[in-house]
Amino acid sequence: MKVLFIGDIVGKSGRATVKALLPSLKQTHGIDLTIANGENVTHGKGINEAHYKELLAMGIDVITLGNHAFSKAEIYTFLDKADRLIRPANILPKDKGRSWIELNVKGNPVVVVNLCGQVFMDTVTESPFITMSNLQRQFKDKIVIVDLHAEATSEKTAFAYQYQNHCCAVLGTHTHVQTADERVIGSCAFISDVGMSGPYDSIIGRDVNEVLDKFHGLHVRSYTVGEGDAQLCGVVLDIDETNRKARSIMRIQIRP
Ligand SMILES: [Fe+2]
Ligand SMILES: [Fe+2]
Repeated sequence: MKVLFIGDIVGKSGRATVKALLPSLKQTHGIDLTIANGENVTHGKGINEAHYKELLAMGIDVITLGNHAFSKAEIYTFLDKADRLIRPANILPKDKGRSWIELNVKGNPVVVVNLCGQVFMDTVTESPFITMSNLQRQFKDKIVIVDLHAEATSEKTAFAYQYQNHCCAVLGTHTHVQTADERVIGSCAFISDVGMSGPYDSIIGRDVNEVLDKFHGLHVRSYTVGEGDAQLCGVVLDIDETNRKARSIMRIQIRP
């Protein structure tokens, strides 16, 4: 089974680039399941219903979120009925939406789980290690893919080692910078960050001058998404569905 996971899609240019490249990526790699992190889809922060539907229409099967999951108030109006959208299990509020989803892919049960890291994250309710230990009992004999939305490479790598026998893939998101540490740990595909699908000429997706102002001590009320064309970052997983083991993980980075 081939799975494509696309890193944090940022703003309009991110959406446009994913839409343009997704058909050929799917065809080239024979993709059976496409997952994308959508926490920055709407103006760089959060997701609205129109953009959720736009991602589904492009051919994305599951959309994960992160620390910006609830940044757009509109999320409260559609999250509970959005059956292909998951939010991190260990952030507040706990009573909105779902944090994992089970799909049938080529006759195999596949579970996609969304968690946030605890290190350097201020909105997290408990360690993802504890949350996962409670969740994973439900996932026995299923292909489990985790989007671990976290800042620290150490936390993401440690999580992969901890759950290598329970997960087929632990994929880091959030930093918006793709790391070159992809590997299979035991039978678990891992990368500490998939990277961003958003404006190339930017500072992790944001307007360069606004971020420079911030670093020079000026008041920046809110950030806007950078201008120009977007890059696409993702990984392709090859999973042996007969034993639920990852065979390989391959990085994809397409620059404008
Ligand atoms: Fe992000
Ligand atoms: Fe994030």
